Amino acid sequence: MKNLIYINACMRAGSRTRRIATPIIEELRKRYNVETVDLTKNLYPVADNYTLEDRNQGIVPPEHVALAKKIAAADRIVIAAPFWDMSFPSALKVFFENMSLFGVTFDSNNKECYGLCKAEKVMYITTRGMNINTGDSLEQATPYIKALSYLWGWGELTVISAQNMDYSTPEEIEERVSKAIEEGLEVCKEF
Ligand SMILES: Cc1cc2nc3c(=O)[nH]c(=O)nc-3n(C[C@H](O)[C@H](O)[C@H](O)COP(=O)(O)O)c2cc1C
Repeated sequence: MKNLIYINACMRAGSRTRRIATPIIEELRKRYNVETVDLTKNLYPVADNYTLEDRNQGIVPPEHVALAKKIAAADRIVIAAPFWDMSFPSALKVFFENMSLFGVTFDSNNKECYGLCKAEKVMYITTRGMNINTGDSLEQATPYIKALSYLWGWGELTVISAQNMDYSTPEEIEERVSKAIEEGLEVCKEF
């Protein structure tokens, strides 16, 4: 079976984003060997001056290198993360920083950087409090994931989202969660 890495950055216990992601992951589990990176349980350290000095000497925690290698080799990536402060939770950014390792997820040829990751498809699942759609200039999560995809070499990005979640009735919220699940399951057919 091919390999899929599921990065779960749904920090809240009752996360609606995770409610959307769970059945999608279960569907993908039928075709992929899924490894979950649960950022609600494992927070990664902020890359500080010591981290960078160590990195320059080739010192990187072996478990970080091992996971970055798995990310680079994975056939598919699914990221679930709520919309926080017009982007995604910092836990996810810090995780990306820890995985952005020269010679593992990306490389350089003296002129520019290029990606070493082989996933041709990436799915990003999110919910937003305000009525902000994917592609709106106020939505700064998708552009970041696209830019990181350029650096790391990930392929096509599909976004599954539900918005206006904090200004809707419970019925409307349920409707949006169901619609996003339906949309995600449809994407799974070609993912
Ligand atoms: C810390 C925090 C920051 C948030 N920032 C924003 C924001 O900048 N814009 C927005 O539209 N909603 C924001 N929200 C609302 C969430 O995007 C919304 O409630 C979302 O559905 C939460 O996802 P979850 O149920 O998976 O936790 C924020 C919520 C939290 C807890």
